Amino acid sequence: MSASPPHPERLRHFVQSLARLLETQPGETTLLDQGATLLRDLVSHDDWLPEAFARPDPERYQQYLLHADALERFSVVSFVWGPGQQTPIHDHTVWGLVGVLRGAELSQAYVRTAEGRWVAEGPAERLAPGTVVAVSPRIGDVHRVSNALSDQASVSIHVYGANIGAVLRSVFLEDGTRKPFVSGYSNTTLPNLWDRSAEVRERAIA
Ligand code: FE2
Repeated sequence: MSASPPHPERLRHFVQSLARLLETQPGETTLLDQGATLLRDLVSHDDWLPEAFARPDPERYQQYLLHADALERFSVVSFVWGPGQQTPIHDHTVWGLVGVLRGAELSQAYVRTAEGRWVAEGPAERLAPGTVVAVSPRIGDVHRVSNALSDQASVSIHVYGANIGAVLRSVFLEDGTRKPFVSGYSNTTLPNLWDRSAEVRERAIA
């Protein structure tokens, strides 16, 4: 097993803060706004993601589950793109927030024409580390994401309003062809966010 990063508590704090936010039953605008602030704080530090969940694959981009809410109200994943890798054009069907941790990514929004084709909507948005953007069926849900770098991996942290790997979604071709899509996850084990024994021991001894 690889060494733990120095600050695994950052991800625990993020999922706890998001769970608390959801307890207030916010509308989507408030949720995306306040959730973006939490995610921006998480991706402003690059000292908490275990290496096993930042590992690129030579064949295709990886989607590692980092945490799933017990009631599947949200899930947190790391996306890892090798040089030149990209997603197909796809939708999400639920709200989502994307925060870049490492490298740089391009997000290209798509809109459907009256004839049913998918065309790029404006220029691709280049996302640098620390940047957070939102998607949802209400504000725009169809895009293609790619690694902006041709010589190194890029990593982003996403949070979605469901257990995203098990959601029935769609991928699209530009000619309008739609294919059903259930992404799944690249990993079978999750990072351990919950070993707080050191702080408890420290408090007990102090
Ligand atoms: Fe996406």
